[in-house]
Amino acid sequence: MTLTIAIDGPAAAGKGTLSRRIAEEYGFHHLDTGLTYRATAKALLDAGLPLDNEAVAEKMAREVELAGLDRSVLSAHAIGEAASKIAVMPAVRRALVNAQRDFSRKKPGTVLDGRDIGTVVCPDAAVKLYVTASPEVRAKRRYDEIIAGGGAADYAAIFEDVKQRDERDMGRADSPLKPAEDAHLLDTSEMGIEAAFQAAKVLIDAALKKI
Ligand code: CDP
Ligand code: CDP
Repeated sequence: MTLTIAIDGPAAAGKGTLSRRIAEEYGFHHLDTGLTYRATAKALLDAGLPLDNEAVAEKMAREVELAGLDRSVLSAHAIGEAASKIAVMPAVRRALVNAQRDFSRKKPGTVLDGRDIGTVVCPDAAVKLYVTASPEVRAKRRYDEIIAGGGAADYAAIFEDVKQRDERDMGRADSPLKPAEDAHLLDTSEMGIEAAFQAAKVLIDAALKKI
C-alpha cells in the first residue's frame, strides 16, 4: 500500500517547502515535478536544440532521469522560461507524467508537487492540497529568496514574472493549473511554513487512519 499526497499551486506558493517537510516527517519519497520540466528544458538548451519542436522535446523528456534532480543546477531564469514553454506540449507532458506516475507508486508513500498532480498525474491521491498565496506575497517571497542568497532583485520585475507565469500555467489547453474538485485549499498568504504544515498534517493523519 502506498499513500500518495498531491500538492499543486502557482509559483512560489510554498509547495516545495511544504512537500519537503511532509516527506521528512512521514519518511515519504518526494518529487518536485517542476524539475522534470526544467531538466528537459536544460537538456535542450545545452544541446543547442530548438524549444519549439515537439518531437525533439518529447525525445528529451523520455530521457530525463528522476533520481538526483537538483534545483540548484536547474534554477536559472532561462531554464524556467524554457520549461514553461515546453510544458504546453502534450507529447512532453505525456512522457513526463508517465515517469511521475511510476514514481508516485513508491512505498511507503510519496509526495508530488507541481501544477497538475491532483487533476492529471495522481487523480486518486489520498490527500490533495491546493496551495495558494496572493501574487504580491509570492513575488515578495521570491524577492526575499534572491536577497537572502546575496543577489540583486527587482520586485516590480519579479511581480510581473509571477503574473505572467500564472497566466501561462492557468491558460494552457493541456492540464491547466486549477484545483482538483476534491482538493483542500490552503491559502498561505498570511500563514507561516509551520502553520501550513500543521494544517496538512491533520489531513494526512486522517488519511493514514483509513488505510
Ligand atoms: O515550490 P513553490 O514554488 O510553490 O514555493 P517554495 O519554493 O516552497 O517557497 C517559496 C519561498 O516562500 C521560500 O523561500 C519559502 O521559504 C517561502 N515561504 C514562506 O515564506 N511561507 C510559506 N508559508 C511558504 C513558503
Ligand atoms: O519556475 P517556477 O518555480 O514557477 O515553476 P517550477 O515548479 O520550477 O516549474 C517549471 C515549469 O514547469 C513551470 O513553468 C510550470 O508551468 C511547469 N510545470 C508543469 O507544467 N506541470 C508541473 N506538474 C510542474 C511544472
